[in-house]
Formats: sequence, structure tokens, C-alpha cells
Amino acid sequence: MTVPLRVLIAEDSEDDALLLVRELKRGGYDPTYERVATAAAMAAALDRQTWDLVIADHSMPHFSGSEALALVRERGLDVPFICVSGTITEELAVAAMKAGASDWVTKGQLKRLLPAIERELREAKGRAASRVTEAGFKALVDRAPIGIYRSTPEGRFLSANAALVRLLGYASVADVLGLDLARDVYADPAERQRLLERDTYSDREYDEVEATWKRQDGRLLTVQLNVRAVRNGAREVEYYEIFVRDVTEQRSLQRQLAQAQKMEAVGRLAGGIAHDFNNLLTVITSYSDLLLQDLTADDPKREDVEQVRKAAEGAAGLTRQLLAFSRQQVLEPKVVDLNAVVRGVEKMLQRVVGEDVDLVTVLAPNVCAIKADVGQLEQILMNLSANARDAMPTGGKLTIETTNVELDAEYARTHHAAAAGQFAMLAVSDTGLGMDEATKGRIFEPFFTTKDVGKGTGLGLATVYGIVKQSGGFVWVYSEPGRGTTFKIYLPQVNEVAEPQTLRGSPPPLPRGAETILLVEDAPAVRVVTRQVLERQGYTVLEVPDAAAALRIAEKHQGPIRLLVTDVVMPGLSGRELADRLTKLRPEMRVLFVSGYTDDAVVRHGILEPGIAYLQKPFTPDGLARKVRVVLDAPRTQGGTTGLLPQKDTPHRARISGPTSSCWTSTCPSGTAWSSFVTCGPTLGSRRSSPCPVGARRDISTCSRRRQPSALRAPCRSRRP
Ligand SMILES: Nc1ncnc2c1ncn2[C@@H]1O[C@H](COP(=O)(O)OP(=O)(O)OP(=O)(O)O)[C@@H](O)[C@H]1O
Ligand SMILES: [Mg+2]
Repeated sequence: MTVPLRVLIAEDSEDDALLLVRELKRGGYDPTYERVATAAAMAAALDRQTWDLVIADHSMPHFSGSEALALVRERGLDVPFICVSGTITEELAVAAMKAGASDWVTKGQLKRLLPAIERELREAKGRAASRVTEAGFKALVDRAPIGIYRSTPEGRFLSANAALVRLLGYASVADVLGLDLARDVYADPAERQRLLERDTYSDREYDEVEATWKRQDGRLLTVQLNVRAVRNGAREVEYYEIFVRDVTEQRSLQRQLAQAQKMEAVGRLAGGIAHDFNNLLTVITSYSDLLLQDLTADDPKREDVEQVRKAAEGAAGLTRQLLAFSRQQVLEPKVVDLNAVVRGVEKMLQRVVGEDVDLVTVLAPNVCAIKADVGQLEQILMNLSANARDAMPTGGKLTIETTNVELDAEYARTHHAAAAGQFAMLAVSDTGLGMDEATKGRIFEPFFTTKDVGKGTGLGLATVYGIVKQSGGFVWVYSEPGRGTTFKIYLPQVNEVAEPQTLRGSPPPLPRGAETILLVEDAPAVRVVTRQVLERQGYTVLEVPDAAAALRIAEKHQGPIRLLVTDVVMPGLSGRELADRLTKLRPEMRVLFVSGYTDDAVVRHGILEPGIAYLQKPFTPDGLARKVRVVLDAPRTQGGTTGLLPQKDTPHRARISGPTSSCWTSTCPSGTAWSSFVTCGPTLGSRRSSPCPVGARRDISTCSRRRQPSALRAPCRSRRP
């Protein structure tokens, strides 16, 4: 089988050319050839098509082998070039080989021609193949999504790929090759030196290190470097081969996550302590109040007891803050207008910050309604304003701003706690001292303060954090030393009309009653004082330490039991389960739940549901007496209790959608009077409705409460109507 071969022959003699062709045919080739005898013809032939082989006579009347070779080389062609000549000197042959000829064969020894051609064609084929592979690898490196470069131990770049150029923010590879690594790339030149001195880099394995680099625009990057040292025979490093990944965003998210986890852990601890404290404080507060009721106005002991009472109030304030931080506080969320809340406390805030601070409010007129606890929002504004005042000891400006914002998925991706969606934003900015990174990283931790002993508890921002989290929002802080601070609080918008805020009047006198109350409380001291308070108000109290005893007494007791006052978290049956059973046994009985914390079924997620009667510990005798009366006097709803059990069909009931996390909210078309219809399908398995004052059809709107991750969801126990 013959091998096709395209041959360009630079030869003035046609006979000699035919001789060459015959030789090629004899070697098994099928040559297509062109003979040229001038530089112009040679150039034209080279430019017209590709050739597998060039054979050139060394000397011709108008042309020469070396000129022919130059024409091939200047075109950058890698084609085997064999010189054939009648006469040859050793110098000429060496010069031709140096100029790039592949071989030299004399016309008298043409038998050498075929082996030379065979060898040269084979080698050219190998070179072509490796060129393809090399180009493939170059493209691979250039298109790699991570930076790849080689550098000298002195810190010069030897090569760099496109990703590295992008990472460093330069325009071209040439720009990067001109940089000095220590001076222009490392944020701290000493860091590169330290990394070089590690000397753990081998010429076989990649070692992983992390460093801080700076981009051309000055922005700092955290980069992960995989380094391999390439060494010479003397084990000295010739150059480094390095892969670079930008891990700035990843590290920032990891820091945010670690911070959130730390806050979570501290929150749980704080919540646990606060719960026990609340039991103790209930006892202290209640006995102080009972004593005060018994002492005459001029009794000398009165002042001592008042001091005890005051100290207990202070302690209750602290536990409230701890509960807020640990998100275990009971909230009474209402649909509120953020602007109205700000306006409501503006005067008070001006007093808090003092005359040296200029308080400015910039309230967006169309700011959307949010669902939150007004008292808690006021608390947020108070805490942030107090901090701003402390950061501006010589005066300044405090700006409170509200606006609507829409956060996109990209924002949520780069901000750990954030979510995408529509938010109402409350921003509180000061022109004060600002904070450095280290302070900023810890400000939300409870008890973190930079203030002198006795000046700050370090609970202000922890409280803000807890409230915001519990309200389904998140908080972000921007601050630099000497440049002031801005806290931005994002609260999810709701498509409902804000309820008008009610003004509190002076409390009516302490109510009394004569009903029988079943009291279930496992903490003996709390139980005793609760009984004493209720008995003082005229009630008959059946007192038991747990649910089992409560069930026994409810079965045995002859007369009516009007009210069950029960702790929520108890050994054995929980308060909720007990209430379920007892209200079946005694449908006329109402229920008041009492708890020091809210991590339970009745007040899941700390959101107090309309209709469930709940009293937060520590309570006062006054608070207990009033709450008991309110529950006893509340109009009877269908189902007979304070709304805990599922009710019978009513014309206004919305449909439960089955075992999903649906929460339906219906609003009355007549306005705000009928806004509290909330039906929660799963987890609680109960629903309530209040009649629409105009008997109108309801619109079932979308869920207004945040859904919780399914892992946290209890199995659905809802009953279909
Ligand atoms: N606007 C601000 N400007 C500068 N630093 C602030 C600002 N707000 C908070 N900080 C810093 O955060 C720390 C914690 O604040 P936080 O409100 O939690 O506690 P505190 O103000 O120190 O004490 P407390 O609020 O209990 O009286 C402060 O000590 C202060 O260092
Ligand atoms: Mg503070």
C-alpha cells in the first residue's frame, strides 16, 4: 500500500527532481509534488497549501537551499526539510542543520534519502500530536475556574491563567506577570515570607495554606493556596506551582454561621436560667406584695419590703431580657404600622438621647405593615437609641428611618441570617464612635459590653437580636471606627391593615371572685403563693402538684370547677394535655396557662395565639388576680373553654387544608373588628374563630405566619371540619 505524500521540491533540474520522485515511489510513497526554482515560486507554493515534506537542492542558479529553509522558518511551519546536494562541505552541512534543516543527503547517496524521510515524517507527526495536546492543556488551564500560576522563590510570576487575572482584578496576564507577589499581591508581605519559611512544600505533593491577598482595587481576599515546590537536583526550589481559590465569601458565611450557632447555644442556656429564675421571682414578688397588703401605711417594715420588691422587679427585668434574647418570650404580635410605633416613642427617645443629640426621623410614607409586638418594637428603639447616645458622648445626630425593601436571592445567599423577600426596614444610625471588627463580632452576645463595670449590662443588643429573630426578621450592623454605626432591622411585610394602637388607662381596682379554681403547679413555693393570692381574692382553690392528681380531683370533686390554672411544663402530662382531658370531663371549665418560658405546645414559637389564656411568670398577685377574672368573665365561645379545643361548625369557619403547615388568616371586609380569625392546622390541631360583625363572606388570604422547617414540625393532628 502506498502512502500519499505532498512534496515541495526546490530544484532547478527537472531530471534531478524526477530522480527524487522515483526514489520516493520506490520507498512506497505516492508523491504529489511541485518543483520550484525561485524564492517567489517557493513562497507562493508554501502559502497555497500545506506540505508534508520539503526537499531542497543546496545551490541553484537563482535560489538556494538556505533561502528555501528561511522561507519555511519565517512562516513558522514545522515541516521536515531535507537538503539534497551534489557537493557538500562539512561546514555547509553544519550551517544548514543549525538553520533548522532536518537532514542533508548528497545526490550520490540517495539511498540515505528514504530512511531520513521516514524518520523525519515520524518525528513531525509526533510533534504535531504533542502540539495538539499542549494546546488542549493550555486551554484547560486558561479556562480553569480557579487561579493557576507559577512563581519564583523571589516572588515573580512566571505564568498566570485568566482566572488569576480576574481574581486579582487586573486587565491582562501581562499586567499580572509584572507584579511582585510580596509587594503587590499579599496584603502583608511578611505573610508570604512566613509561608515560604514553612518549607513543607515538596516537589511531589501540594500543601494547602490560606492567605490574605489584595486586589488591584485594594479589596482584601481570603485565598486558599495549594502549593507545590519544583526543586532542582540540589533540592533547591526552582519555582512554585500554585492553585488559588477565592474563599472570601465562604469564610465570611462560616463566620456568620459560627456566630449564629454560638448565639443559639448561649440563648438556650440563658432561657433555661431565666425559666428557673422566674419561678423564684414569682415567689419573691408575690410574698412581698402580700406582705405589703398586710402592712399599714406607717409600718416601719414597709420600706424594707418595698426594697425587696424593687430588687425583684429589677431581677424580673433582667430575666425578661434573657428570655427575649433566647427567643422564649411570649409575644403578642399585632399587625402594626412601623411609622406609628416610631412616632409614638419619638418624644421619649429624644429624652433618652439628651439635648446634645439631634434626633431625626425619616419615615417612608408608604411603609408596609408588619406583624410584631409593639412593646418589643419600642424596646428595640429604646435599646438602640441608648447605645447611640453612649456612642456620641459629645453629641451628634441620631437618624431613625423606615422604608420598604425587597431583598433578592443573591443578598440572602451572601448574608447568613437573611432571607429573600419583602421587608419593612427600620434603620437606626448614629454619628458616634463606631466599632472595630472585633467588637462588631460580639455585640449581640449577652453580657458583652465595652462599658465600665456598672455602666452597661451588655444585654441591650442581645435583646434586640432575640426580639427581631422571634419576629421572623433579622438585623444587620454597619460600623467603622470613627464613622458611626447603623443598625438595620428587617421585618417581614404582611398584606394586612395595621390595627390602631390602644391607649392604656389606669387599672381598675383588683377584682374578686368566689368560684372554685383547680391549681396545678409542680414548684411547691409557687403553688403555695398562687393559692394564697387566689384565696385572698375570695376563690376556693383545689391545689395539686401534677396532672395525675388534677385528674383525680376533677373526677371526685362534687361541685363545679370554673377554672383550671396550670403550669405548662410539668413532669408527666403537660399542662396542654391535662387541659385537653379535663375540658372533656368538665366542659364548663376554663383554662389559664402559666409558664416561665414558652418552649411548649401552647405558646409555640413564643407567639401567643388569640383565645389562649396565658400568664407569664414571674407574675404579681395583681396580675394573677386580674387575669383570672378576665378568663372567668370572658364571653363563652363554642366549645366552652378559652378556645383550646376544636369548635363545632360555624358559618364563619374557614377550611383547614389538611396535614400541611397552613395557617389561614381571614380579615373582615368591614375593617379591623374581625381580624383575629386564625386557624392553625397541624402541630396544634386546634382552630378558633370569632364571628364577623357584619356576617360577611371571608377572603382566605395567604399564610401570614412564617412556616417553620419541616424538621421542627410536629405531626399533624388537625381535625377536619
Ligand atoms: N451605636 C453604637 N456605637 C458604638 N458601639 C456600640 C453601639 N451600639 C452598641 N455598641 C457596642 O456594643 C456593646 C454592646 O451593646 P449592648 O447594648 O448589648 O450593651 P451595653 O450598651 O454595653 O449595655 P446595656 O445596653 O445593657 O446598658 C456596647 O458596649 C458597645 O461597645
Ligand atoms: Mg446598650
